[in-house]
Amino acid sequence: SKKITIAIDGFSSTGKSTVAKQLAKELHYVYVDTGAMYRAVTLYAMRHGLINKTSVKKVELINQLPNISISFVFDKALGFAAVYLNDENVEDEVRTLEVSQFVSKIAAISEVREKLVLQQQKMGSEKGVVMDGRDIGTVVFPDAELKLFMTASAEERAKRRYMELKQKEQEVSYDDVLKNVQERDHLDTTREDSPLVKAEDAIEIDNSSLTIDEQFQKILELSLEVI
Ligand code: C5P
Repeated sequence: SKKITIAIDGFSSTGKSTVAKQLAKELHYVYVDTGAMYRAVTLYAMRHGLINKTSVKKVELINQLPNISISFVFDKALGFAAVYLNDENVEDEVRTLEVSQFVSKIAAISEVREKLVLQQQKMGSEKGVVMDGRDIGTVVFPDAELKLFMTASAEERAKRRYMELKQKEQEVSYDDVLKNVQERDHLDTTREDSPLVKAEDAIEIDNSSLTIDEQFQKILELSLEVI
């Protein structure tokens, strides 16, 4: 069998990362969560006073990009790689609702995308990779052998995300989570640089009514057809 590139794109909280991780494990591929990279840059901006309630200090952030180093380190306990910001494990911190509320603004900055896309292309240069994000099949790896596009209703996605945050004992309301999901959908699909769009040759999977296991089986089948 040959090594391929698997690009999984879609809206937030569609369960992309859960199935992508399982798939990578099953195929002995590398898994890359590109959302975590945009989240880590956002965390950096928050910590350095480059974001306030209404705006981002874009020029300053762009100037500081060379100081931002993002990496992944396999975590045995988690069973997957945790994201690091300048050698600090920020895997938990990047998942807060606060980071979610700013990340789409940071991800709309072309200079940020350029830096992260380049790094993503390097990470996937030897194939055997499952990468999930918003622009993997369109921009990062337009030649990926398998492209999937995941969707589900905003309410279903907010419900899942809310349960996840609750489990981590974060103080959030369902309404705020739903609002965030809808805001990010809007920002991610309407931004000028690399908007979230289904690649022409991507296979769309609406998982509103699929269990995680059903999704995984479906995606594994599709992968094995190509490999
Ligand atoms: O996948 P996740 O929900 O963690 O992504 C967080 C945010 O990062 C998205 O809402 C989007 O704004 C941005 N993102 C992106 N391009 C990617 C991955 C994520 O713009 N490839």
